[in-house]
Amino acid sequence: MRIICTDNYEQMSKKAANIVASQIILKPNSVLGLATGSTPIGMYKQLIKTYKDGHIDFEEVTTFNLDEYYGLNKQNEQSYYYYMYENFFKYINIDMNKVNIPDGTAVNIDSECLEYERKIRNCGGIDLQVLGIGTNGHIGFNEPDIKFEALTHIVELDEQTIKDNSRFFNSIKDVPTKAISMGIKTIMRAKKIILLASGIEKSDAIYKAIYGKITPNLPASVLQLHPDVTFILDKDAASKL
Ligand code: GLP
Repeated sequence: MRIICTDNYEQMSKKAANIVASQIILKPNSVLGLATGSTPIGMYKQLIKTYKDGHIDFEEVTTFNLDEYYGLNKQNEQSYYYYMYENFFKYINIDMNKVNIPDGTAVNIDSECLEYERKIRNCGGIDLQVLGIGTNGHIGFNEPDIKFEALTHIVELDEQTIKDNSRFFNSIKDVPTKAISMGIKTIMRAKKIILLASGIEKSDAIYKAIYGKITPNLPASVLQLHPDVTFILDKDAASKL
C-alpha cells in the first residue's frame, strides 16, 4: 500500500489525475473504474484540462462506474449517469458506447448485475479503479456489513450515507434508499486502485481503513489486502495517521 499525503484538495486532485493520465498514455485502451461523489470532481477537472492540452486521448478508453442509485433514470439530475456526463464525459472524446454505468431502472436487477460483471470480464478487467470513501468507510456503495458482498449487487443504503448524500438532494426524503454497486470482489479484482479522500470528516474512516482490522464493518479496510493500492489524501483526511 502506498500513501500520498498532499497539502490540499487541488494537489490531491492533480496527483490522482496524473496517475489516471499516465495509465491512459501507457495503455490507450485502458479500462477505468470510475467514482462519483464530490471528491473526484477536481480530478475530473484536471483530466479535462490535460485532455484539452492534447496530452491524453480517451477514444479507446472503456469505463465502468462503481454504482448508481436504484430507481433514478439517466435524465435525473441526481443520477450518477447525469453526474458523469455533466462533470466529465461531455468534455472529452470518449466513445459513449464504451461508457458503462449500472442501470438504476433495470426491471430485472439480478440480470443487470450479472451482465455488468460479464461486461467487465469481457473487457479484460479493470486496469485502474478510482475510489472515494464514505464517512462510514464504504467504497462504491458497499456499506458496513457482517460480510463482504462479492460482486455487483443491489444494496440498502446506510442511514449515515443517506444523511451524507442528502446535501445533493432537495430533501432527505428524496434520497434513494437503494443502489446498485460493484461488489468488494469486483473492486479488488482491479489491477490497480487509487482511493481519494479529502477533509477532516474522512480522517477517521481513513485511519481505520489503513491501520484498522480488516472487517466488512469498515469496507475500505479490505484494501489492505490489495497488491497495488494508493491512498491519495489531503492534509485533513490524513490528520489521524
Ligand atoms: C457516495 C458514493 C461513493 C463515494 C462516497 C463519498 O455515496 N457512492 O462512491 O466515494 O459516497 O462521497 P463524497 O466524495 O461526496 O464524500
